Amino acid sequence: MSSYNEQQETWPDQPPSRKEMSRRQFLTYTLGGATAFMGVGAILPMIRFAADPILHKKGAGEFIKVVETGKITDEPQEFTFELQQQDGWYASTATLTAWIRKDESGEIYALSPICKHLGCTIGWNNNKTHPDEYHCPCHGARYTKLGKNLAVAPKPLDQYKTKIDNGWVYLGDIIPNTVANKEA
Ligand code: FES
Repeated sequence: MSSYNEQQETWPDQPPSRKEMSRRQFLTYTLGGATAFMGVGAILPMIRFAADPILHKKGAGEFIKVVETGKITDEPQEFTFELQQQDGWYASTATLTAWIRKDESGEIYALSPICKHLGCTIGWNNNKTHPDEYHCPCHGARYTKLGKNLAVAPKPLDQYKTKIDNGWVYLGDIIPNTVANKEA
């Protein structure tokens, strides 16, 4: 009759016993699970760091401090301001322009200078034939003080979202004109 040790030497490739396999599985699962847990914990912050600029577009929805309210008159004035933008990993600074005035009730609004015909830049009172209007030099579009389209352009000038805070005018996103049909 052969001993256990003799059997092991005689049949080295004999499948392991049920008890031994179970212990190996336990160790495999435990070590594998712990390694996976540590791996995910290490990789997640890297994924978040890499994806963060994509998830957060900087610039949209922000208000920029532009000018003191005391400097705004009922005559439109041109003001420029800078917007820091982050699109994915690409950071840039855009210089924007707004025509700002206050109406007869004292409400301050700001118009975009982009012509609604084909996108040229409009100016105020720059056409002697049609004074006190915005005029586009490209194809002759004209707009009232409130940005209402008078010729060529199919729509009123867009305007900036405007916020007044502590004596300053802040401008935000560009939106469709909401003042064009008011009394100037
Ligand atoms: S782009 Fe302004 S009139 Fe054509």
